[in-house]
Amino acid sequence: QEAGDPEILNLPPWSTSLGLPVAHRPYGMPAKYESNLVRRESPGLASVPQASVAFTPLQGLFGIITPSGLHFERHHQGWQEIDPARHRLMINGLVKTPKVYTMDDLMRLPSVSRIHFIECGANSAMEWGNVAVPTVQYTHGMLSCSEYTGVLLSTLLEDCGIDLKRAKYLLAEGADGSSMTRTIDIERALDDAMVAYGMNGEMIRPEQGYPLRLVVPGVQGVSWVKWLRRLEVGDKPYATKDETSGYADLMPDGTMRQYTSIQEAKSVITSPSGGQVLLEKGYYNVTGLAWSGRGKVRRVDVSFDGGINWQTARLETPVLSKALTRFNIGWAWNGEPALLQSRVIDDTGYVQPTYGQLRAVRGTRSVYHNNAIQTWKVAENGEVSNVQIA
Ligand code: MTE
Repeated sequence: QEAGDPEILNLPPWSTSLGLPVAHRPYGMPAKYESNLVRRESPGLASVPQASVAFTPLQGLFGIITPSGLHFERHHQGWQEIDPARHRLMINGLVKTPKVYTMDDLMRLPSVSRIHFIECGANSAMEWGNVAVPTVQYTHGMLSCSEYTGVLLSTLLEDCGIDLKRAKYLLAEGADGSSMTRTIDIERALDDAMVAYGMNGEMIRPEQGYPLRLVVPGVQGVSWVKWLRRLEVGDKPYATKDETSGYADLMPDGTMRQYTSIQEAKSVITSPSGGQVLLEKGYYNVTGLAWSGRGKVRRVDVSFDGGINWQTARLETPVLSKALTRFNIGWAWNGEPALLQSRVIDDTGYVQPTYGQLRAVRGTRSVYHNNAIQTWKVAENGEVSNVQIA
């Protein structure tokens, strides 16, 4: 006779002892069994960790919101913990009244809360030539999604009396050692961009720009200037160091493409994904994320045979503009090798390209804006790995 499951037959300690008191941890933490799911730096990416990237572990996350402690990090000169009482935001240039705001001033202004993704323009950069990294954390983890709270730029610029006739561009400048500076089109600035002090219900984390960061929905991460200290209204693009020496795209004909800010539609299956193992054949929930810098996700298709046949996945609510969208689809694995792909179509009708289509336009030596379809290969033994299909 079988002995039966000891976890059913014997009462565990947590059923026979007194639990911990309230406020034992005044600021909560994940369970100790989840300690493997952390931000990770890809070794060898940068010579110093102050100018590097730590990637979000997309493979272990649910829904669309990235826990603040797992938000990816990309700093050019390390991160600082700024004293909010000493932080200022200056607005100057083509405005009637140049102003300096304290954090207290900003928090008295009308506020909004919006859910948006942020993706570094260099997300998936290592994969332009060929497969380079093993897991979705490293292929796609310069990607996070949060609820931001702050003041719309339209509110702030109106408060300073922006000269709408002459204003064409905005310069945003950070207070860290890198003096990150980026040019933003004035239409975009006045549309849905904001200065954010809140993220996921709490003050924005120091790594993400505490106490104030720029949020430019749909635009590559570099323009989301952290530790924001100055906005200047101007009539021409600023061509700063962060948009000339870097963040420009080398095209196959040798020319450089500049001011490419929008993150085009992209999707990825986060589970099963590279480095994971399917235990046996049978049913699996295949899940992933889709997003578009131009608006909402309209549809996500999933292929199990490397792009020959496609099935439409289920989109989970909410489906928000310029936010991550979660998709799910059921799959019965028959134990044979399979090639898993997802392909997003956004509400402009744009279809996520294959590597063949993307390389035909952009070549193989680019760095930024790789939004090609990702392929995960499931081997007969269940091991999942990163492969590329043109
Ligand atoms: N802002 C400042 N002041 N300094 C920086 O180094 N890095 C930029 C941008 N804003 C940066 C910055 C880059 S390249 C990216 S991708 C995002 O911030 C990363 O934001 P995160 O660290 O909150 O993920």
